[in-house]
Amino acid sequence: MKKKKIILLCILLILGTSCQQNKEKLIKNNPFIEFSYYQKDKQERYQNYQKEHPNLKTEDIVTHVNIGLDQAPYTNTKETLFLNTTYLLVNKYHYLPATYVPEKLERIDTNYTNGNKQLVQEARLSFEQMANDAKNEGYTIRAISAYRSYQYQQALYEKYVLQDGKENADTYSARPGYSEHQTGLVVDIDNGKQDFNHFEETEEFKWMQENAANYGFILRYPKGKENITGYSYESWHYRYVGKKIAQEIMNKNITLDEYYIKYLENS
Ligand code: DAL
Ligand code: ZN
Repeated sequence: MKKKKIILLCILLILGTSCQQNKEKLIKNNPFIEFSYYQKDKQERYQNYQKEHPNLKTEDIVTHVNIGLDQAPYTNTKETLFLNTTYLLVNKYHYLPATYVPEKLERIDTNYTNGNKQLVQEARLSFEQMANDAKNEGYTIRAISAYRSYQYQQALYEKYVLQDGKENADTYSARPGYSEHQTGLVVDIDNGKQDFNHFEETEEFKWMQENAANYGFILRYPKGKENITGYSYESWHYRYVGKKIAQEIMNKNITLDEYYIKYLENS
């Protein structure tokens, strides 16, 4: 009996080692397959992208190609998954239907905004808690833009195109259907004194850097990540993703676009 068990264990050990060796050999021949989010149909694109970016880590090559960054923005687009969740992705490759209006849109307490600004309930509650806690510490956080309908974004984008030309407008404004503001999970903020364009220079910005993730918000378009997000740095634009994801994104120092590909798309 004992002998049989020992023989069985040996066989399993040999099989395990040979499997591991096989895997290592496969990865050596094709390093992209190491990552769980590798997609077979993108093999050629990974190879081409690697040729164009020889200094990028293999992990980043797979992530960037999966985002769509090897192709021009707005060319290879798909409708976004996970509508009405807090972790959906909207960027220059993932769009929302023109008719999409998030569920549970609610008005932000006028203590923290002026006029009629709306967020999805969970984001609204967390935003108000954050603004209130900031206020108790002597800081002013005010929502200056939140949910925007498809039609509103369309008018905004067209205004910017007239003003600055399409190429410039695309660096700072989303086209209709491609704006995160349509998710009802985004808030642009200022401190009630300086123009939002100068938010980075305020004490409130520092406070947000230290605290936003604890309320589930991330700085969505950070400095130095323009090549991934597709937008110029925006110190005022915060996206609600929930506390766990926000903290993970912050700790890993990655964008939502990358996090989505690595941990959400195939989950
Ligand atoms: N300014 C951001 C990118 C938007 O238009 O949604
Ligand atoms: Zn914004």
